[in-house]
Amino acid sequence: MATLPLFLNVLAEQQAALERPVDAAPAPLPVPNPTKSFWIDTPGANPLAKEGSEGPLTADADIAIIGSGITGVSAAYHLSRLLAQAGNTERSLKIVILEARDFCSGATGRNGGHLTANFFAEFVAYSALFGVDDARRAIALEQRTVSEIIKLVEEAGKNSELDLVAGGRGHLMFTELEIAAIKADYEAAKAAGIDVSKVEWLTKEQVEKEYGASYPAVRTPGYNIWPLKLVTYLYNLAKEAGVNSSTSALHLHTNTPVTNISEASSSAPRRWNLTTPRGSIAASYVLHATNAYASHLLPHLRGPSGIVPTRGQIIATRASVSESVLTRSAFTGNEGFEYWFPRPVEPGKTEPLVILGGGRESTKPDFELYVADDSAVNPKAGDTLRRFLPAVFPGRYEENREPEMEWSGIMGYTKTGDPFVGPVISPANPDAYKGQYISAGFTGHGMPRTFSCAEAVAQMILADIEGKEWTIPEWLPRHHLTENRLQE
Ligand SMILES: Cc1cc2nc3c(=O)[nH]c(=O)nc-3n(C[C@H](O)[C@H](O)[C@H](O)COP(=O)(O)OP(=O)(O)OC[C@H]3O[C@@H](n4cnc5c(N)ncnc54)[C@H](O)[C@@H]3O)c2cc1C
Ligand SMILES: *[C@@H]1O[C@H](CO)[C@@H](O)[C@H](O)[C@H]1NC(C)=O
Ligand SMILES: *[C@@H]1O[C@H](CO)[C@@H](O)[C@H](O)[C@H]1NC(C)=O
Ligand SMILES: *[C@@H]1O[C@H](CO)[C@@H](O)[C@H](O)[C@H]1NC(C)=O
Repeated sequence: MATLPLFLNVLAEQQAALERPVDAAPAPLPVPNPTKSFWIDTPGANPLAKEGSEGPLTADADIAIIGSGITGVSAAYHLSRLLAQAGNTERSLKIVILEARDFCSGATGRNGGHLTANFFAEFVAYSALFGVDDARRAIALEQRTVSEIIKLVEEAGKNSELDLVAGGRGHLMFTELEIAAIKADYEAAKAAGIDVSKVEWLTKEQVEKEYGASYPAVRTPGYNIWPLKLVTYLYNLAKEAGVNSSTSALHLHTNTPVTNISEASSSAPRRWNLTTPRGSIAASYVLHATNAYASHLLPHLRGPSGIVPTRGQIIATRASVSESVLTRSAFTGNEGFEYWFPRPVEPGKTEPLVILGGGRESTKPDFELYVADDSAVNPKAGDTLRRFLPAVFPGRYEENREPEMEWSGIMGYTKTGDPFVGPVISPANPDAYKGQYISAGFTGHGMPRTFSCAEAVAQMILADIEGKEWTIPEWLPRHHLTENRLQE
């Protein structure tokens, strides 16, 4: 295989760096001046950017959701929908979303745009750690999430408005080691009864002919979408469901960071007191939808047993051939370190803009772990990103062409890749957070997981409000639950 201008087979080294004991400080708050992303900074793309940033603050809420990314907004959507379905109009629940910066300006507004469910990846490692049943659920969760989102978008006829493209995704395999690992996962998943009928194996020659890169690949169904537009749509649905049914009222305050959460005095009607620079907010329930930044308010989640802020980087670069040559397929490669797809061609252009993320392997041994500043990019990662596509697809991208945009975003890594979902539990003081919940730590892979994990916490909160027992859905990996994460 041709030599590529990048480090290969370094996933194991990243894992070792992630697991290394570090006396880490809690994450900072999101920085105020982030790099500009294609998704957020395309004119007109973020109508809710400054929503509720001025004027009176909602000072009292049943449920305060911290974070307006896909997790926080999906939780608001599920809460409003479940309340409207239950149709109990005796009392309307007040829900407030608090966002430190502009609407959806965290990872969700800065990511790679892939909405692709896992079919078999990591099956060997995951079943060794947590058993075959949970490995099955990890796949079921992703399949379910993607199909629920697609259904929601398609039924409303919003495909083109949200730029939803069903282009599939090829995983280019650059090394023998990578091929062996992927084959082993595939065989193990198949043996465990996972449906792999939609997985296609392509030889190097087939890939060369169809896509112009000479590496073998494995293809699965997959989508890409404009993540911020999806989240804006979910927010509007949540708001409407409340208005229509009078069972919930949703408020949003952007540019309102939560700087502390303390227990209100015992005589106060609400248990929690959230501090913001604009005043305090009393809430009975709190949902931490803060992903990479979770340990700022929950210091026990700092360091490798918790959620490690990790900076990812993206470029938007123009291809030098037309869409018909390039195809609309998304790709990943190099153990997932790189991922890319072509945008629908804009009016007046002939070659597509390609969104390419990755380059973090070239920052080893640190891998941008513990970097929470998305106001800057890493020049080494940027250099790798610039060289990548021309090297992998000779003739389809011009060498030394400068990207049209480049930005960074902060992911929340966990050691096992699992998010923390459920009641907040501090091992040192298990009862200290009663009424606080979390869904965070998606490890750079949130689009096919966050929406369903938010549904699970929404169910938990409503069950608690109604004094009922929450029943765990079959599709939720048991190891995502906070109560099963105390020994790490
Ligand atoms: C560069 C990059 C590329 C990625 N590519 C993909 C991809 O292609 N496919 C995929 O599936 N996943 C991808 N991911 C991961 C995916 O974007 C995340 O898993 C997902 O967006 C997480 O959503 P979230 O809502 O939990 O977190 P976020 O979107 O980060 O939302 C958290 C929000 O909380 C706010 N916040 C934090 N602390 C506070 C506070 N104290 N007070 C108020 N607000 C606060 C933040 O400002 C932020 O808006 C990528 C991530 C990055 C960074
Ligand atoms: C709210 O009601 C309007 C008008 O009846 C309807 O068009 C819309 O679909 C409803 N929205 C939701 C989320 O139920
Ligand atoms: C909430 O905290 C603020 C300080 O941040 C304090 O002034 C206020 O009295 C507290 N409210 C309650 C109800 O405890
Ligand atoms: C919140 O405030 C309390 C005291 O008012 C302090 O002990 C605690 O460290 C603060 N927490 C954070 C996350 O700043």
